[in-house]
Amino acid sequence: MCGIVGYIGKRNAVDVMLQGLSKLEYRGYDSSGIAIVQGSEVLVNKAEGKLVNLQNKIEDLHLESSIGIGHTRWATHGRPSDYNAHPHTSQNGKFAVVHNGIVENYLRLKETYLADEVFTSETDTEVVAHLLEKFYNGSFEETVVKVLDVLEGAYALVMICADESDKIIACRKDSPMVLGIGDGESFIASDVPALLAYTRECMYIEQGELCVLTQDGITIKNHALEVIDKEVHTIEWDAEAAEKDGYEHFMLKEIFEQPTVFKKTIAGRIHGGEVQFDFDLSAEQVNSWNKIYIVACGTAYHAGLVGKAVIEKLARIPVEVEIASEFRYREPMLDEHTLVIVISQSGETADTVAALREAKKNGCKVMAVTNVVGSAIARESDYVIYIWAGPEISVASTKAYTTMLIAEYLLGVYLAQQKGMDNGALRAEILEGLQHLPDIAETMLTDAYLEQIQKAAEGYKDANDIFFIGRGLDWAIALEGSLKLKEISYIHAEAYAAGELKHGTLALVTDETPVIAICVQDATYDKIASNIKEVKAREANVLAIINEGDEETQKFVDETIAIPRIHNFVAPVLAVIPLQLISYYTAKVRGCEIDQPRNLAKSVTVE
Ligand code: F6R
Repeated sequence: MCGIVGYIGKRNAVDVMLQGLSKLEYRGYDSSGIAIVQGSEVLVNKAEGKLVNLQNKIEDLHLESSIGIGHTRWATHGRPSDYNAHPHTSQNGKFAVVHNGIVENYLRLKETYLADEVFTSETDTEVVAHLLEKFYNGSFEETVVKVLDVLEGAYALVMICADESDKIIACRKDSPMVLGIGDGESFIASDVPALLAYTRECMYIEQGELCVLTQDGITIKNHALEVIDKEVHTIEWDAEAAEKDGYEHFMLKEIFEQPTVFKKTIAGRIHGGEVQFDFDLSAEQVNSWNKIYIVACGTAYHAGLVGKAVIEKLARIPVEVEIASEFRYREPMLDEHTLVIVISQSGETADTVAALREAKKNGCKVMAVTNVVGSAIARESDYVIYIWAGPEISVASTKAYTTMLIAEYLLGVYLAQQKGMDNGALRAEILEGLQHLPDIAETMLTDAYLEQIQKAAEGYKDANDIFFIGRGLDWAIALEGSLKLKEISYIHAEAYAAGELKHGTLALVTDETPVIAICVQDATYDKIASNIKEVKAREANVLAIINEGDEETQKFVDETIAIPRIHNFVAPVLAVIPLQLISYYTAKVRGCEIDQPRNLAKSVTVE
């Protein structure tokens, strides 16, 4: 979603903004723009399309300023265009605003306060710039507070004023932003990668706080404009972790990083055959939960489906998995005996944050499984399990998904252990499997393996529809494989619980609908084998993901890709890797833009 960068200090703000915005490109966008102050004027430049269009547009202008705000826009109100791109300015051109989120009451605000004004865009954001001019009383800070008082919706807003060009003002409600502290300079951005080249010292902005950035530092104030003390955090990510590092795409790099990050997810969490987290749950607390909801979106939701199987099997607590955007609108039955687990790579997904708040409002304890330290979800949850995947830049999630699964295995074991369940032998086997995972995953990513998958992907180049089938845990993986394929290759793909095909969908299966079957789980092997034969009888071409050494399946499918043998329960972590690679190479052979697929954004901060 929209990216924001603001800078004030000794460097040329234009360079800092362009560099920072380039680090936020992964969030997904369709236009970009910057505003600087020159003399008593705000100067704005914007361009539809990629950031390079903006760079080309301003190249010969040799712009310089010590203050500026920049933005990459992901359209919500008004189509992608130069005029809808941010920053937006007030009618007198003195104020400029960049915004992430949605001002829900913007039409009402126009009617109430700005009926006579001329607007130059279709956006909700422009209203904010006009209101700043309308309410201005000689104090930029007081004026921002007055404007905030009438805004409804979600926003991260960063604003400048030509008449008070010694400061940038920023505030947020439900949309993320991080402040960077420099020496004689201050930064603000919607995400950490934009800051990494300049500083590691950062502060997170809480709801309703007003941040005043100057060359001399950053002051945080409350609604009454009283100064608030704020904790300074050190960003742990390396700058290199957010670079492609020789890989053609971030997605491929992140697939390859999996063995390394698996180690990080597990590190320090297994001691003497037991799992430990940063929190400590008593048997009494765990036993007080008679139900668990896992709530998440997209890939994180798919991770939740594996989590359900893991927790139910190990800790024998019933688990329901819910799509976050549905959860709070259907009045779920929540009370203090319900644990709500929210899963989110970014920790900022608006629907998941809303679900978390709904759960807390109803007296539930909330546990977060997330990647981003200091994110809204991490801050607002009672217990946090970090997946330690490092920055995930590709819009299509890979390493975050697999590390979410590992976190869930650890959690399943932990809950069972704290409850004192008598399944110690199974827990030990799972922990052993987890500890072997990084090395085993490493052995998979050979050139020969990649070539084999690349060849299979070439066969999908012209497909219109592809089906993924599996049973049990293999079905959960099938769902993730099909999402990955459709989001980056734009091929229509569906995942089915294989036994369900004959209840309708089998009608669609022909020699033109390739099927990818995941057949890794021993308990359901005979059943999936029958289901594969059903689609083969309809002449579908079948590629099967199998366990190494499975000679049986090779006899009745067209092609197989093997994963190394590992404890069946942990196998989804490995089985999804060939599916990630199939999506990657299919998108590549179709010439798709892999890291930033059309219409999608990395961090979905609007509901
Ligand atoms: C797909 C993908 C999305 C995200 C979803 C939730 O590859 O990445 O489906 O999983 O938008 O995002 P987070 O995990 O940040 O809450």
